[in-house]
Amino acid sequence: MKNGMWKKAAALVLGAAMVMGLTACGSSNIGGGTTAAGSESGSEAGSGKNGVLKVGLSADYPPFELYAEVDGKRQMVGSDVKLAEYIADALDMELELTDMSFDGLIGSLDEGKFDLVISGMTIMEGRKCEFSDPYYVAEQALLVKKENVDKYAELGDLMGQKIGGQMGALQADLASEYAGDGAQIVGNVQDMVMMVAEDKLDGLICEKCVAQSAVAKNPDLAIASVQIPVDDKNEIAVCIKEGNTEMLEKVNEVIAEVSKKNLYGDWMMEYLGTEDIGAGTTEEATEEATK
Ligand code: ARG
Repeated sequence: MKNGMWKKAAALVLGAAMVMGLTACGSSNIGGGTTAAGSESGSEAGSGKNGVLKVGLSADYPPFELYAEVDGKRQMVGSDVKLAEYIADALDMELELTDMSFDGLIGSLDEGKFDLVISGMTIMEGRKCEFSDPYYVAEQALLVKKENVDKYAELGDLMGQKIGGQMGALQADLASEYAGDGAQIVGNVQDMVMMVAEDKLDGLICEKCVAQSAVAKNPDLAIASVQIPVDDKNEIAVCIKEGNTEMLEKVNEVIAEVSKKNLYGDWMMEYLGTEDIGAGTTEEATEEATK
């Protein structure tokens, strides 16, 4: 994004956030690669007795991960950041968050740059990592300009339209599948939200709670009624480097606790800017499945 456009975007989002009385969350990870030590990001996670827990994420995906101004500082926050803090705390490790573009996360994990990736990551075949048990069950949605909300009722309505999906993400596949040649694969989700607002994209496929978060901040946006099927690809989990069974087990223990206490839904609400979290938590889904 050009600098001018970025400033405009920031002003717009910050303005909307202020009007709504939300914590300002008007930044995205242009440039990426920022490393914020846990202490800097306001995290109380762990005393660090057991070393540093390195977590990679792509902070362009509110309410999962985003930037907000906390105590006058631009920091990564979101329900995934809360989960990362919770895990670090449980392992008595210091948390180090690294923001990078989504499509580089799994590769960097595999190269050993991180211990974990926590980034709204869907359990999908072909991703070179171990997945933890899911901590959230998502739904997909199409974010559009409010004035176009009635244009997209059926999947067929997407064909040939300029539909965005994030590079390296499930939604890139979905955009290509349902919009054909119209699909626009872009690296940063917040760039695409702006493109929808500025009529440069007809729509953006993303997790429903992400679309809700965008609508909460920009009343010109809306969620179309079209249902976007994804087979069984809606479970979101932590990624652990292949072969690190010890870490996998530890993370699963923590996720079991988080699910039992139903914490993730609360964390998500905190960063959503709206009451509806879009889909159930893993706990609810598990209940549903075992009925
Ligand atoms: N759930 C989708 C996937 O795993 C999208 C996740 C995007 N996350 C992000 N932080 N941008 O492919």
